[in-house]
Amino acid sequence: MSDKKVVFSGVQPTGNVHLGNYLGAFKNWVDKQDEKVNYFCVVDLHSLTVPQDPDELRHQTRSLTAWLIAVGLDPNKVTLFVQSHVRAHAEGCWLLNCVTPLGWLHRMTQYKDKAAKQESVLTGLLDYPVLMAGDIIFYDADEVPVGEDQKQHVELTRDIANRFNHLYGQDFFVVPEPVIPEVGARVMGLDNPNAKMSKSSAHIRGHAVRLEDDPKEILRSFKKAKTDSFGEIAFSKDPERAGVNNLLGIYKAITDKSFEDVEADFRDARGYGDLKVGVAEVVIDAIRPLQENYNRLMNDPAELDRVLAQGAQQAAAVSNPKVDAMKEIMGLIVPNA
Ligand code: AMP
Ligand code: TRP
Repeated sequence: MSDKKVVFSGVQPTGNVHLGNYLGAFKNWVDKQDEKVNYFCVVDLHSLTVPQDPDELRHQTRSLTAWLIAVGLDPNKVTLFVQSHVRAHAEGCWLLNCVTPLGWLHRMTQYKDKAAKQESVLTGLLDYPVLMAGDIIFYDADEVPVGEDQKQHVELTRDIANRFNHLYGQDFFVVPEPVIPEVGARVMGLDNPNAKMSKSSAHIRGHAVRLEDDPKEILRSFKKAKTDSFGEIAFSKDPERAGVNNLLGIYKAITDKSFEDVEADFRDARGYGDLKVGVAEVVIDAIRPLQENYNRLMNDPAELDRVLAQGAQQAAAVSNPKVDAMKEIMGLIVPNA
């Protein structure tokens, strides 16, 4: 067995993939794909916890998979798959439901926030973190790279893994650690630099740069970006200057330059207009080849299906036996075991 760390992360196919997803998550996954054993999952079952249009969900599942490959994930290096293609996830979730106290789920802040906004709350929404826990522990994952908002769910995953190990008297599950990127990895909304760029606000013009936006649209969004009246192009922690800081942060993440070099690039700028155009240009140049890759993949559904079948097979080979072993431990008869 390899002693490389196992990494698992998931992302919902809810559309509007944006620069924050790319710089805060996907780009890091690509950069680290040679170091560890990686599983990246398009979590379509999680998306069903709120009502979805069936055709749209299918489209978004393919689209997100294509984006993940387009930005550089190599399906021959990582296991890239769709959650519902591997039976362990939904099946194992039931088994975990039967060791997870309801009170733990009622305490989840994301559930409370989401439920408060809905008239009729689905059981799946409450159960969402148990499904997520299974995603992670059925692969013996050591590390879970996620945004701050998912930290509580990974902590719950640890509690569930520990409880199962305690109840059944074995070190059956690996207890995973959340890996949260530094604050610098957060891309903020261009229209409101004090709120993070998010899929749910991506329909608001000038909020997000979506990976599918054309160059004109990207330039327009940056030109409208909120700045301040200080007139100084420098990194800053001052909330009043968050807009300029965000623009510089995007430029830094795209170009992989140091703080000093980023500021030096704008030393001769004639104000924020130059800054906005400068940032827009590096973003447009970085996104163009990704869009070409994306379009090529979306025009070749057979190739996408082949990649997904390969990913599902690799994932199933790990998680299905794990869930079968759980069944056995919990007292179920596993056929042909
Ligand atoms: P979501 O868009 O919430 O489905 O998140 C998918 C992935 O992108 C997660 O790993 C998030 O942490 C990351 N992510 C989402 N929005 C941002 C953002 N504005 N800045 C940095 N990372 C983000
Ligand atoms: N709940 C996560 C989100 O909405 C997505 C997710 C599902 C996930 N399963 C996971 C993330 C397992 C990390 C590991 O962003």
